[in-house]
Amino acid sequence: MKGIILHGGHGTRLRPLTHTGPKQLLPIANKPMSQYCVESIKNVGIDEIAIIIGGIGADKVKEYYGTGEDFGVKFTYISQDYPKGIAHAIQLCEDFVDNKKFLVFLGDNIIQKNIEQIGKKFEYSDADASILLCEVDNPSRFGIADVKDGQILKIMEKPKEPPTNLAVTGIYFLTPKIFEIIKRVKPSWRNELEITDALQMLLEEGNKITYDIITDYWKDTGTPEDIINANKEILKNMKSSNKGKKEENVSINGNVIIGSGTIIKKNCQIIGPVIIGNNCILEENASIGPNASIGNNTKIAKSHIADSIIMENCEIMTDIKIKNSIISANSKIFQAENEEKILLLGEGTNIKI
Ligand code: TTP
Repeated sequence: MKGIILHGGHGTRLRPLTHTGPKQLLPIANKPMSQYCVESIKNVGIDEIAIIIGGIGADKVKEYYGTGEDFGVKFTYISQDYPKGIAHAIQLCEDFVDNKKFLVFLGDNIIQKNIEQIGKKFEYSDADASILLCEVDNPSRFGIADVKDGQILKIMEKPKEPPTNLAVTGIYFLTPKIFEIIKRVKPSWRNELEITDALQMLLEEGNKITYDIITDYWKDTGTPEDIINANKEILKNMKSSNKGKKEENVSINGNVIIGSGTIIKKNCQIIGPVIIGNNCILEENASIGPNASIGNNTKIAKSHIADSIIMENCEIMTDIKIKNSIISANSKIFQAENEEKILLLGEGTNIKI
């Protein structure tokens, strides 16, 4: 089988974070979210992966993933000139797929379940497609599958009266049959070629679509709240390790990962789950966690940071409480000399002070 990761799109709901690069490179527990997709695909035994790129910072994707050598796979980059829909992106991979079965991951969908067995089952089955479903609380926001007695009856996009609460996740096992179907799919009201329409057409034409229900967390990390939540979920399952140095009277509780070259100074408090990257400095009395990710080379003074993602090369040098926040790489927060706030904010910045 081959693999495809969708790494294009606009990421409008995540602006301003996506003004300088694709959302799928935003870090969750200090790793780009699409790297979790690479790992899931690799677990299925796939080592040839096409990455669909397009939009702002597409070059950053190539820069990060390269040939794939560092990740133990081979990457092929396919450009999508405009995000015309998930089915459109898949269509661009027809030559790459080379008449084999394939696994598609939306680059912002993170699952913790190992799908090796599901992948193997599909590889040797006669199904024309297989999808992963997950129970959700708000089914009218998702593509939903109506199922009965183990059979999929219908797949529909954001139904007003959902027949089930089983959302179609952004992970699709497909066969080359889908290409011929997508050629006949009409653009939706939002002018995109929808994968749900293609799957529904596949069903209507008498083809077999199987499904598995995943109970582990899966998340389409489309909004800042989703990202903060995904960070929390991923951190929960990480194991503690400490490659850094700590001074006296540092309190560390729960699962905490500390990278090499990191220094935790006197009287700091870390409440896991927390990940702190390499070469960071936590100045005296800093308090981190729970649910916080701190990127490499970041320096934090006497602040309190919880439920947040602070990316690499940041400096937070003031006594401040930060919660439910995402701070992009190379950002700096300093103490003003008087009461006046001095702000240099990029377009679309969102702050509450
Ligand atoms: P979406 O979350 O639907 O779209 P988006 O990423 O543009 O975000 P927003 O709605 O905030 O503007 O896309 C789902 C995934 O599929 C995401 O990883 C981006 C990817 N994608 C493509 O690669 N090409 C496309 O044409 C579309 C629509 C999405």
